[in-house]
Amino acid sequence: MSATIEQFEEMKGFLSFGEADAANLQRLAPVFATHGAKITDDFYAILARYPTTAALIETRLESLKATHNRWMSQLFEGSYGAEYFENRIRIGLAHVRIGLPPWYVEAVMNLIRIEGHLAIVEGVPDADERAPLYASLLKILDLDLMIINLTYSEERLDRVTSFTGMSRKLIENVINQAKN
Ligand code: HEM
Repeated sequence: MSATIEQFEEMKGFLSFGEADAANLQRLAPVFATHGAKITDDFYAILARYPTTAALIETRLESLKATHNRWMSQLFEGSYGAEYFENRIRIGLAHVRIGLPPWYVEAVMNLIRIEGHLAIVEGVPDADERAPLYASLLKILDLDLMIINLTYSEERLDRVTSFTGMSRKLIENVINQAKN
C-alpha cells in the first residue's frame, strides 16, 4: 500500500480544507451527537435491503453500527493529520478485504450527505451559519471517500505487482502505454 500522507495533504490543499473547516466540524459535533444514531440506522437499513451488502453485514449489525458511530464522531474531532489519515486507510482496507465492490461505498455516502444536511438544518438554528458548516462537512466526507477509493486502487496495483512480479513503476508504465 503506497498511499501516503503527502497525498492526503495534497488532497486537503486541493479542496482548501483548513483551520476554518476544522473549527466548523468541531462546531457540528453536538449536532451529530444528537442526529448521528438515526443516520447510522438508516445507513444500515439501506445496506440490509440489497443482497450483496446484506450478506456482508447480517451477522454483525450491532458491532458495525458501533464502529460506524465511532467513524462519524471522528469526523467532528477537529484533528485531520497523520493519525486521521492512517485510521481512514485502515477503514478503506477493511472494505477491500471483504471484497466489497467500491461503488457501494461511493453510493451510500449519498445518504450521509443528504441526512447530514437535514441534521444541520434541524440542529443549527441560525440559517446563515448552515452553508459554511455544510461545506466543511462535504469536504471531510469527500476526503474520506477519496482515501477509501485510494485504498482500492492501490490494493489492485499491489495485487498485480505481486502476481506478475513486475515492479510498481513498470506496471504504471504499462498502464500509461496502454492508454495510447
Ligand atoms: C460511507 C461509506 C462507509 C463508511 C464510512 C463505513 C465505515 C466503516 C468502518 C468505520 C468500519 C470499521 C473498520 C475497521 O476499523 O476495521 C467498517 C467496516 C465494515 N463495513 Fe463499512 N463503511 C462504509 C460503507 C460500507 C458498505 C457500503 C458496506 C457494505 C456491506 C460496508 C460493510 C462493512 C463491513 C462488512 C465491515 C467489517 C469489515 C471487516 O470484517 O473487518 N461498509 N465500515
